[in-house]
Amino acid sequence: MKKILISSVLSIVFFLSGIAQNSINPKLGKDRVKKVIAAMTLEEKVSLVVGTGSIMPGGSPPLVAGAAGTSYSLPRLGITSLVLTDGPAGVRISPTRENDLNSYYCTAFPVGTLLASTWDIDLVQKVGKAMGNEVLEYGADILLGPGMNTHRNPLCGRNFEYYSEDPYITGKMGAAMINGVESEGVGTSIKHFAANNAETNRNSVNIIVSERALREIYLEGFRIAIQEGKPWTVMSSYNLINGIYTSENPDLLTSILRKDWGFKGFVMTDWGGGKNPVAQMIAGNDLLMPGSSTQTSTIIKAVTEGKLEEKILDRNVEKILNVILESPRFKGFKFTNKPDLKAHAEVTRQAAAEGMVLLKNDSASLPLGRSIKNIATFGNTSYEIITGGTGSGDVNEAYRVSLIEGLHNAGFKTNDDLSSLYSSWLKLSKTGRPRSRGFMMGSRPVEELSLNQDIISGMANVSDAAIITIGRNSGEGSDRTNAKGDFQLSDLEQQLIKNVTKAFKAGRKKVIVILNVGGVIETASWRDLPDAILLAWQAGQETGNSIADIITGKVNPSGKIATTFPMTYDDVPSAKTFPGKELPADPVAAQPAGGFGRSKPAVDTYNEGIYVGYRYYETFKIKTAYEFGYGLSYTNFIFSDLKLSSDKFSGSLTVTVDVKNSGNVAGKEVAELYLSAPAVKLDKPSLELKGFAKTKLLKPGESQTLTFIIDSRRLSSFDPARSSWIAEAGKYQVKIGASSKDIRQRSTFILAKEITVKKETVSLVPKEKIYELKPTK
Ligand code: BGC
Repeated sequence: MKKILISSVLSIVFFLSGIAQNSINPKLGKDRVKKVIAAMTLEEKVSLVVGTGSIMPGGSPPLVAGAAGTSYSLPRLGITSLVLTDGPAGVRISPTRENDLNSYYCTAFPVGTLLASTWDIDLVQKVGKAMGNEVLEYGADILLGPGMNTHRNPLCGRNFEYYSEDPYITGKMGAAMINGVESEGVGTSIKHFAANNAETNRNSVNIIVSERALREIYLEGFRIAIQEGKPWTVMSSYNLINGIYTSENPDLLTSILRKDWGFKGFVMTDWGGGKNPVAQMIAGNDLLMPGSSTQTSTIIKAVTEGKLEEKILDRNVEKILNVILESPRFKGFKFTNKPDLKAHAEVTRQAAAEGMVLLKNDSASLPLGRSIKNIATFGNTSYEIITGGTGSGDVNEAYRVSLIEGLHNAGFKTNDDLSSLYSSWLKLSKTGRPRSRGFMMGSRPVEELSLNQDIISGMANVSDAAIITIGRNSGEGSDRTNAKGDFQLSDLEQQLIKNVTKAFKAGRKKVIVILNVGGVIETASWRDLPDAILLAWQAGQETGNSIADIITGKVNPSGKIATTFPMTYDDVPSAKTFPGKELPADPVAAQPAGGFGRSKPAVDTYNEGIYVGYRYYETFKIKTAYEFGYGLSYTNFIFSDLKLSSDKFSGSLTVTVDVKNSGNVAGKEVAELYLSAPAVKLDKPSLELKGFAKTKLLKPGESQTLTFIIDSRRLSSFDPARSSWIAEAGKYQVKIGASSKDIRQRSTFILAKEITVKKETVSLVPKEKIYELKPTK
């Protein structure tokens, strides 16, 4: 009896002390965020704005093995961690774990360049949803993607992660991806904000860029994605813009991102980005990733010494807590570690086929007719397909469907002798080599096999057609080069294409070249040889099946390039300055910044200004190999009946156009809407993409009316003198076409009086004078 009495008394005491504890400790979710912050010690606040580093506190196992980073939890206040995983082509975590027989593979989806080539917002959203579901079911909270930088130069090693050379399509694709991923109740971190358009010296390169180019080309895609996608977070970039690290720049992270664009989430650094944690806090870079003890002590010291106001920390902590409140871990979501990988494989297979681009198809060589049964497959990458780029953008997928497997799955036979030749060659070439050159670089490419003409002719005798695959890979930490074997074909690759076409054409057999690349390569010197060229990009784990879907005609290609293929590298407007020049080591300026990879102080001046990609080639009339927006189909389309709601602009304009499938097979077409604006005070590119729409699958003879809305923002250009977006008065031409050159319908409207569409609050003018490219009037 006595015992019972004592234990009841104790329970009451514990119960009451529990209440007391709870009333002392407010809890996130139950109490107001501000109240939770008020209860935090300085150390606790700082722990929230600095990530846990690469090792978990107290040496405990990571919450999700292989995740890129984690934020601290504060159980006392009910604050859970956020687990952040790369991105952007799928979730990047460890596929296997110690003492665990389960596997944790993720789906490798197509890379960004391919997704943009679909011009299909709903499809990209669907890919995002599948990816977001893997974030959720593997117990993570935020995907580190999409990648939103501009294809300023084809040699940027990370172009595969980004969408395009054009800010409008970049923004639309980014928004679609964010909306897809976040529909699963997890977050995104759109990256790398901003102007991270090269990998060389990425931690210390200073980008000198005019305010107009910065706003129109390098920020505009982010603005669209932020306003239309509302991402939970933004990742600042490693580089400096006009002398200031992006992560330390309050104009960029607070005035522009938050005040002007209305971003509500938090900003995190790229891994080890920037130098000064206090400046980062002030700028509004709320979370420092992956986080270090030096950053923690520096911030604590700054607050203690009165160099950093604690209310700045409170502001940053609040932004992070608001996101934590939305996160699955905070909500106690019970993840399964079992996403539906089979269903997601279907999504990637479909998306991949929609973004492949048919560059050439002489005499309707594709789709392959029923008489084609035996295919001779040349090129290393026919056997070892490249599904995505390297570095943090690489995904640990369970399998990859090679081209050979894809062809077999589609019922073709491939040549066994050729297969064994290639497999011995690949094995031999890799003997004694390290498997990879570190996670950033992947494995060194194997030189093409030099086949003598007799073997090739023998193959031509016993096969019905030939496929040659040309592969390229790259990733973060380094850029590509304008060398043979990289931007240009190697001598062996040139020879292979020449010899195979010669032998197969002699037997009246078709030759198809497949480009298994993440970015642009040179095509002008060899493209006349093969009958067909399919730009397959790096299309995710189902690459082989998706290629087979196109070449059998199961899927009619509808992809179009969202980045120009120039005739030669020298034609690229930034060819002379990319990737910047290294500066003599200055002991102060050269203080290494954080981040992976060594970086030397360097500067890259964007002399081409706004004339990036097609804005340059079209305005300055430079011939290209394949222009922006280009891509063929197995059918033809007629564009007709372009209608404008008015021929005078007053706030907004509706444009409609009819697209009819005039060929013999079902297909989809992209209608691209370009505007040519009057150049009154400001110079203007000869045309700019301002809208696009893709038809549904149209049966032969079927038509669809596509609708576009043009608002005043789409008419405007940035005038640095007035710090405003201005739509100049005059005549605007509306051009709708199947590519930036293939304009099918035209009309005009008048803007009677200039409109100031938006006045910006801060100016980002560089100190240096930039001699920018301008068209002559
Ligand atoms: C990359 C980011 C990536 C991060 C975390 C950095 O090196 O630049 O894109 O999200 O690492 O892995």
